[in-house]
Amino acid sequence: MKRTTIIAGNWKMNLGPDEASRFVARILPQLNQIIEEDTHLTSVIFPPTIALATVRSVMQTSPTQHVELGAQHMYFAEKGAFTGESSPAMVKQLCSYVLLGHSERRTIFGETSQLINRKVLAAYEHGLKPMLCVGENLTQHANGASQEVIAEQLRTSLAAVNVEEAAQLTIAYEPLWAIGTRKASDALSAGNMAHFIRALYMTSYGQTAADALHILYGGSVTSANVAGFISQADIDGVLAGGASVTDDFVAILHNASKRGRER
Ligand code: PGA
Repeated sequence: MKRTTIIAGNWKMNLGPDEASRFVARILPQLNQIIEEDTHLTSVIFPPTIALATVRSVMQTSPTQHVELGAQHMYFAEKGAFTGESSPAMVKQLCSYVLLGHSERRTIFGETSQLINRKVLAAYEHGLKPMLCVGENLTQHANGASQEVIAEQLRTSLAAVNVEEAAQLTIAYEPLWAIGTRKASDALSAGNMAHFIRALYMTSYGQTAADALHILYGGSVTSANVAGFISQADIDGVLAGGASVTDDFVAILHNASKRGRER
């Protein structure tokens, strides 16, 4: 089964509405053109929540719509007294994707896998596509506990997810020691982890879901290393952070495209 390659950009807390719309207006035609020439590619951008509506308006003025929009964060409840939060239905009005379980949400804002699980279920209920982040920290990595940590994060975050839902998931494997450090994982180790994740999926959800699952690598992805990651059999794309708010994001997409890889 041929899976699409997803090139995703997590802008984190960078680019407010004004800067975000200017940036998107500039890079969008280039992103659309690359995807038009290689329909095997897709792209998702995750601007800050406060910029989603303006970015969406800019995207709607484009004659071609190949880039999808995602929220970096949401709460699981329908509505109510949850100051500062956005509900799944609110996110759905603007976005097709939602990023869940990013390590910055886990470590800085104390999100647990149990909480992330409620959000994953809420995303599916509202027809949003969750992109679930998992990853081990440096100590866990040094102790050889990476697989164990990832397996536990997946088990808890995906509790009560059914086989059909599981098949639609995108998992971003993002080792914490590689995020924002300019020290990306080597492609082979990332590929091995992606293989491990797909094998776990096979056991939990069966062959069809395991074949459909998209697994991305994230952590210091740039246009210089993207080709190595996506050449791994079990890696179906990347989630870029720092590079996604620069012109390098266009170069990442280009280097992931057929034309970029032929060079
Ligand atoms: P980075 O971030 O590319 O800046 O390392 C990746 C991420 O946190 O999603």
